[in-house]
Amino acid sequence: MNSENINTAEIKIGVVGLGLMGCSICTCLLMAGHPVVAIAPIPVDMTTADKRIKEHLRKSHEEGLIKSDPGEYFKNCIITEDYSELKGCYLVIECTIENLDIKKSVYKKIEDVIAADSLLVSNTSAIPISILQEQTSLPERFFGLHWAEPSHISRFLEVICGDKSDVTLGESLYELSHKWGKEPTLVRKDIRGFITNRLMYAMYREAFNLVENGYATVEDVDRACRNNAGYWMTLVGVFRWMDLTGVPAYHTVMKDLFPTLNNKTEVPKLIDDIVKNGGKGVANAQGFYDYTEEEAKLWEETFMEFSYEIRRLALKYPADVVKKKLKAAEQTKS
Ligand SMILES: NC(=O)c1ccc[n+]([C@@H]2O[C@H](COP(=O)([O-])OP(=O)(O)OC[C@H]3O[C@@H](n4cnc5c(N)ncnc54)[C@H](O)[C@@H]3O)[C@@H](O)[C@H]2O)c1
Repeated sequence: MNSENINTAEIKIGVVGLGLMGCSICTCLLMAGHPVVAIAPIPVDMTTADKRIKEHLRKSHEEGLIKSDPGEYFKNCIITEDYSELKGCYLVIECTIENLDIKKSVYKKIEDVIAADSLLVSNTSAIPISILQEQTSLPERFFGLHWAEPSHISRFLEVICGDKSDVTLGESLYELSHKWGKEPTLVRKDIRGFITNRLMYAMYREAFNLVENGYATVEDVDRACRNNAGYWMTLVGVFRWMDLTGVPAYHTVMKDLFPTLNNKTEVPKLIDDIVKNGGKGVANAQGFYDYTEEEAKLWEETFMEFSYEIRRLALKYPADVVKKKLKAAEQTKS
């Protein structure tokens, strides 16, 4: 499948699980022109999904991500509890809570309906794809499709092959995802946490180490993070960053620094205490920081506002930005 020749209007996609991510994934697919069947596995989804998707579309229109009236996109969306509506889907994306038994029961309902050549994927954050695909009847057509919230704005997507996945089908999925405004990554060999979560959790672990051992406060760690990694990471990844700033220095630092980094395997006490006390973060105004209800709500809104802005910047600096500049310079010369 070459993304140039793909007509998204002819490719029906199903999304099962309409929580935070399921709704933004539906929005992304609708904006890309797909007919979408949104399955509500629990009754509450039937009352919340419609509002969430419509609001995402409205805001995306206001921000210029889509040109036509939001209603034009929403009319391609069916929200239902009836799995039989998934018939005819080329791809079904499972987006239910991170629980193996629940995901397994959902796969059975999906596979009872879809054709043998349809693809089935999971948005799991951390369950290995090779384990999930064992819960299905046709593991070779099963993949991880790991999105980042807000899915309709973020450029991030990982396509992950499990041990039994057919890599050729994974490549088709990778091509198709270019139609969704993504700069995707194809992970050809399964590994727990895939790419970004492995990188991010290494950083989270060191952040806890610094705070729990009194080297810095939560605020200090966050400030350093925002103004160092946060400054360059939308332009380049870690390897290009080392190229940009001089490789030998990293080589020298690694020798002395690596042995001092935290490599503990237990969950840090700081996060354990918050979770045991019911803290969820801004969702219930209880996390690493103290929030009033109003502050928590404003953080959610500010994150959304920032997401649109950083997307605009990311679009100006795609991964091949320099290649594009060279091509433009050549064209000017000739
Ligand atoms: N939140 C994120 O930033 C993020 C990022 C990447 C991946 N993910 C993954 O996406 C998936 C969904 O996460 P979310 O943040 O949308 O969660 P959520 O809590 O907002 O939504 C979970 C959804 O799961 C479904 N569900 C709940 N109980 C169920 C049950 N008993 N039977 C069947 N379905 C049930 C419902 O549709 C519910 O809306 C998870 O696997 C999560 O790890 C989340």
